[in-house]
Amino acid sequence: MRMKLILLAIGFACFLSGVISSGSDIHSVFSYLENDLVAAKSSSPPQPLMVALTLIQGAASKGAVCLDGTLPGYHLHRGFGSGSNSWLIQLEGGGWCNTIRSCVFRKTTRRGSSKHMEQQLPFTGILSNKAEENPDFFNWNRVKLRYCDGASFSGDSQNEAAQLQFRGQKIWLAAMEELMSLGMKNANQALLSGCSAGGLASIIHCDEFQGLFPKSTKVKCLSDAGFFLDATDVAGGHTLRNLFDGVVRLQEVQKSLPKSCLNQLDPTSCFFPQNLVQHVETPLFLLNAAYDAWQLQASLAPPSADPHGSWNNCKSNHANCNSSQIQFLQADFRNQMLNYVKGFSTSSQTGLFINSCFAHCQSERQDTWFADDSPLINNKPIALAVGDWYFDRQAVKAIDCAYPCDKTCHNLVFNDGTSSRVGSQSTSDGTISVVDPQSTSDDTAVMVYSQSPRLTLTPLYMLTAKCLVTNYMFLTH
Ligand SMILES: *[C@@H]1O[C@H](CO)[C@@H](O)[C@H](O)[C@H]1NC(C)=O
Repeated sequence: MRMKLILLAIGFACFLSGVISSGSDIHSVFSYLENDLVAAKSSSPPQPLMVALTLIQGAASKGAVCLDGTLPGYHLHRGFGSGSNSWLIQLEGGGWCNTIRSCVFRKTTRRGSSKHMEQQLPFTGILSNKAEENPDFFNWNRVKLRYCDGASFSGDSQNEAAQLQFRGQKIWLAAMEELMSLGMKNANQALLSGCSAGGLASIIHCDEFQGLFPKSTKVKCLSDAGFFLDATDVAGGHTLRNLFDGVVRLQEVQKSLPKSCLNQLDPTSCFFPQNLVQHVETPLFLLNAAYDAWQLQASLAPPSADPHGSWNNCKSNHANCNSSQIQFLQADFRNQMLNYVKGFSTSSQTGLFINSCFAHCQSERQDTWFADDSPLINNKPIALAVGDWYFDRQAVKAIDCAYPCDKTCHNLVFNDGTSSRVGSQSTSDGTISVVDPQSTSDDTAVMVYSQSPRLTLTPLYMLTAKCLVTNYMFLTH
């Protein structure tokens, strides 16, 4: 009886907090449950395709290892029918490590060691095997290459004292060799994609990727949320440049950057897409939110640039930004991004989808890639924009009108009080966890989508999930 009363009280507290936060405050342990409930309410099958991790056995002899010396890995789901000879490579993202300390920490996570990687990952969005979820690439061979080097698959050095291997470039090469031997050498179509740090990697490796194939193979690249601006933060500093500078020096990334860029600029500048994309000769598509949620958190208003936390409310939910903050985001961020893609967009082979949303990684998630209510520009969802561009059905240079005009966004909302965390890794389970690459702890904050007007059930199932788990944790602890 007493237990029942306590549970009832917890349930009520859950309800209240859920109402107050409109369902936006949810802890990472709820993500799978939430995902199940989301799937249950939609008409698509409840279980996403799960694909097993394969370690690259031949990688060690090539020196292609994760930060801690373990083997790198990938998840491959074979194509079928007309897609049997088409290959999609998705480079995983997840921030960077820029100091010995942050790289040593990373060795204890899935971002630095295959010992800690999930044995299976859900294949959703651009990786889905269902035509109704992924109309153009569903039957291709689809690969997710795991990220465990901390430098966008681009470093090549080591630190013996700290027992750190920086072998991103070698991991990239060993993975491509393995996939070629598994049939990619016969590809007639290929697309290199990636999100966040993996989206930057897909720009850096784009021409190398094309070089693997004969001229007769159609090869293109997609960078999702990889357009990291060399921006000025809210204190007038250069937080992201400082971070990139550390990554490039520590891991000797310059060896992987285009000579044509290094002839003009320093290596750190050449790690920024705004200076890189003009050196890419292979057709490239840039998919990015104009108010990239990760960049707002980690590059524009990180705690170091905002010690009093006056941006915290705005960072955790765009609806809390006041007019001067929105003005900063328009002038110092979106306008600069549009400026940098101007030249890029004039080429007939490039593609663009810059939507005015507070999002990060929109190709891996089903709800943003292709769903009944997914984000649109000119009535076109991201999956069709990328497909139209890849298959040359139509030119795609989609640039959204400025905030707040777009009502189709799936904006990310951060759990309050954890919005000071920086660095990020996206998962396919309906959450984006945010990790501070400088921090020694791996506690993650979770961003969940704010209520879209067309997702009226969202607060209800989040609430249910939260209370179920709260009760469960109460009973088991
Ligand atoms: C917006 O918020 C910031 C940070 O709290 C504050 O410094 C600024 O004065 C506010 N601007 C307006 C127009 O309210």
